Amino acid sequence: MFYLNKIKLTNFRCYQSYSTNFIPHINIIVGNNAVGKTSLVEAIYCLGLTKSHKASNDVEMIKNNKEVAVIKGLFQNGEEQDEIVLSISEKGKKINKNNKTEPTLSRYLGYFSIIIFSPEDLGLVTGGPSERRKFLDVNIGQTNKKYLKNLMNYRKLLKQRNEVLKLFNEKEGYDDCLLSILTKAMISEAKEIISERKNFIDSLNSYLFGKCDYISGEKEEAKIVYKPNCDEKSLFEESELKESLDKITKTTNWGPHRDDFSILINGKEASKYASQGQQKTVALSMKLGLADLIKTKTEKIIVILDDVFGELDVERQNRVLKLLTFDDQIFITTTTTDHLSEKVLKDSQILHIENGGE
Ligand SMILES: Nc1ncnc2c1ncn2[C@@H]1O[C@H](COP(=O)(O)OP(=O)(O)OP(=O)(O)O)[C@@H](O)[C@H]1O
Ligand SMILES: [Mg+2]
Repeated sequence: MFYLNKIKLTNFRCYQSYSTNFIPHINIIVGNNAVGKTSLVEAIYCLGLTKSHKASNDVEMIKNNKEVAVIKGLFQNGEEQDEIVLSISEKGKKINKNNKTEPTLSRYLGYFSIIIFSPEDLGLVTGGPSERRKFLDVNIGQTNKKYLKNLMNYRKLLKQRNEVLKLFNEKEGYDDCLLSILTKAMISEAKEIISERKNFIDSLNSYLFGKCDYISGEKEEAKIVYKPNCDEKSLFEESELKESLDKITKTTNWGPHRDDFSILINGKEASKYASQGQQKTVALSMKLGLADLIKTKTEKIIVILDDVFGELDVERQNRVLKLLTFDDQIFITTTTTDHLSEKVLKDSQILHIENGGE
């Protein structure tokens, strides 16, 4: 079995020096607003993906007026114990596994998978397409390094292509030869990206099926519909069709960097028709479906539900808990355990947090 046994935080967010132990199953982190619940689970997330799910800049995570934040995690990995240390400073980040510095952060990625549901996830439903693309990229990438490589190549080529478009010169026109080389190379990466996104959404739908329905008390069935900006088969035609527009706007107007997907509840667009509780239910169902999907690829997975209960009625809250399996290590943050059933409380570790763990 794989789980996080112990964590130690130094100068991370509101924590100066804090350590605690966890159990392999449900860990419920309880405390008032602003005591450091989200910060604690953010640290766990960082141990998995070497970056935060919410901080746009790493230095935000360093405690005010300090220079280095350190997160140390002790993982039970089958019979072995692994020590992972992530340090964050103005100069950058470093990750150590069992006292050896990893040559790059991306080499470390994939040690374990992590799924977080947090209040920001409502943005999956209500936010713009870039949030949904990030969801696809982060989560496909967790178990598919080839996808990450395709994505990195694609982004590099896109940047180069846009630079060529911007370098339009009245006299010499465009470097059409370079433009065409970049277009072809982009198409080849784009095909892989679109096809992986398609596969991922298909599989996610099969794991999502029934979840939203169950949490809502058989009222709401959810489905995701992929909306590629351009189908993988017609990329070349589309690139030709849009070439003059690209030249006018000096940017690339086709390709997977413009993809999106719709989230439907009972066949209707959730962003337009669903209530806040329904939107939260569907976003959460997507994350729980995702956890099931990732579990088919790796046994090393940690699930975090940050502030999952707000806006959900007590019936929905209890159904969410029933959906959680005991096979995984789960972290739940909440301001109160009043609404939680005896059974859940009996099987969980309750961790009370006060100001920054002090
Ligand atoms: N870099 C930092 N240095 C010091 N304190 C910080 C830093 N970043 C955030 N904080 C503070 O840490 C505290 C805890 O924030 P956190 O989001 O973890 O609270 P929370 O327990 O999840 O609260 P809520 O119930 O409202 O979600 C807040 O007061 C926040 O302002
Ligand atoms: Mg919080």
